[in-house]
Amino acid sequence: MARLDPHSHADSSQPRPRHLRLRLSVDFEARQLEGTAVLELEAPSGGPLDLDTKELEVLEATTASGAPVPFALGADEPVLGRRLRLSLPEGTREVRLRYRTSKDAPALQWLSPEQTAGGSHPFLFSQCQAIHARSLAPLPDTPRGRLTYEAELEVPEPLRAVMSAGPAGEGPGARPGTRVLRFAMPQPIPPYLLALAVGRMESREIGPRSRVFAEPETVDAAAHEFAETEAMIAQAERLFGPYEWDRYDMLVLPPSFPYGGMENPRMTFLTPTLLAGDRSLVDVVAHELAHSWTGNLVTNADMEHFWLNEGFTVWAERRLLEALHGEGATVLAWAIGEKALEESMDRFGKGSPLTRLRTELAATDPDDAFSSIPYEKGARFVALLERTAGRARFDRFMREYIARFRFTSITTEEFLTFLEERLPGLAADVGARAWLYEPGLPENAPSFRSARLDGLVAVAAAFPRGDRPAPAAVAGWSPAETLVYLQNLPREIDRDGCAWLDNALGLTGRGNHEILVEWLTVAAGSDYEPAFPRLREVLLRVGRMKYLRPLYGALGRHPRTRALARAVFAEASPRYHQLSRRVAATVIEKYSDAPAS
Ligand code: BES
Ligand code: ZN
Repeated sequence: MARLDPHSHADSSQPRPRHLRLRLSVDFEARQLEGTAVLELEAPSGGPLDLDTKELEVLEATTASGAPVPFALGADEPVLGRRLRLSLPEGTREVRLRYRTSKDAPALQWLSPEQTAGGSHPFLFSQCQAIHARSLAPLPDTPRGRLTYEAELEVPEPLRAVMSAGPAGEGPGARPGTRVLRFAMPQPIPPYLLALAVGRMESREIGPRSRVFAEPETVDAAAHEFAETEAMIAQAERLFGPYEWDRYDMLVLPPSFPYGGMENPRMTFLTPTLLAGDRSLVDVVAHELAHSWTGNLVTNADMEHFWLNEGFTVWAERRLLEALHGEGATVLAWAIGEKALEESMDRFGKGSPLTRLRTELAATDPDDAFSSIPYEKGARFVALLERTAGRARFDRFMREYIARFRFTSITTEEFLTFLEERLPGLAADVGARAWLYEPGLPENAPSFRSARLDGLVAVAAAFPRGDRPAPAAVAGWSPAETLVYLQNLPREIDRDGCAWLDNALGLTGRGNHEILVEWLTVAAGSDYEPAFPRLREVLLRVGRMKYLRPLYGALGRHPRTRALARAVFAEASPRYHQLSRRVAATVIEKYSDAPAS
């Protein structure tokens, strides 16, 4: 018996499911999915098969011929959920499970009509990474267990559905007023890439292999924002090899989506906070697109190797940015990433094991371990390898790495072995062991600087002395320059300083949420009351965790803002995604005046 993934009951000595057939009907009233999951096995087998489940009600298990398959649900474990042990009769080729999801399935957020742009129909979306696919369907929920899948979703008219798969037809549903949409994912994916969304949606073509889907109210803005997508795909193919997933479509979700983006294959999910109007936040699209190689083709074996997904992808995202927007823009992106890295190092403490790249997460919820460390420390490690090897050699290595491990799920150690084979001595030269297995950021971390960046940091450093940049200069700053400037200001600024900033940079009215939230974080920490209405509005509308954490954090500095935070949270929390609610609640619980619990 071998359980390789600390976050899964899957046992590598048991039969392997290779293909999943889902048939689910979507019930917005009950907030449940109900139907069947058929797991096809690699070979006819018998004996125990352990699957992961979370809050699933398993109603029946049968073989293809209808013979019952004995099953037992284990105890509910806090992080893992319940093991579902099937006892397969000898010669079983497939097992069919009839089941229902729970109202509180962590993978799903059910939105009421008021939480959508249209305001008239409900919406449903999934978020399975890291270990929530098990609340959507019973399966071996480990990235080592790659599956192809087909699905049929029965949804109420006039709603549509998308999945992390290609469309495979549609027709009327069995129940009146419903429609069935079919999907197929012919390439083997890790279960965390299973994804669905149901709602009122339209799409626009934005390139030869891309459409953007969104609610009708936002779809045109989305099409405009992401018009550069094909140029990105073409550039990524030059860097990393062929795009293997046929289409690259995107879905813009309602604003409670807890992440910036999620790389669901063939259908990236995106937050509507990217719709700045000026294409200034498309680095998130570059990132999710880059996962088509690093993450979706070459996948982390489990969450202890998550840096393989995110570190390589941030590095790849910045290579794309450099190719498309130049080195100047890329240096600023690294500088913005450095702030995120510092925040995570401070939050965990530099000696914390969670600041290692290769982590040990038995008994740790991956959602609690989430931070910018695997992203920014990981990307710096890859950039160091690139600089040390030389760009041409490293680019060749990357293409070989992807070609060698495509459609597999690997560990840090397998990566290191391959690195040593292709670029012997490089790991030792850069001190890879310290980077991967020790906490903190090694001394030899690469630095990313430019005269432009130094200039902005200097202008920001002069702010506390009362030196203000000239309005004409400020007016010419790009969104990234503005963000770098704001990030280098003190976290608390007096009333006049805040008023000057808001006025000179037009901050409260910004549609670029990176800038808006950076500003509101300073304003919150400064107890700057004129910004409170906008602060409330953002906290009530947006569920992106990246924004909620600093905003609620900064509101903790003053008695009046703590009261504001608690009042807003009480109103907003029923509308937040479970993950967002937990992040905000955790921040508020740490306020200095919080009652001891
Ligand atoms: N795969 C991640 C999101 C994720 C990670 C969800 C872990 C659940 C568990 C996605 O690719 C991501 O990194 N999104 C970032 C984008 C950013 C780094 C450009 C985000 O949401 O902010
Ligand atoms: Zn990512």
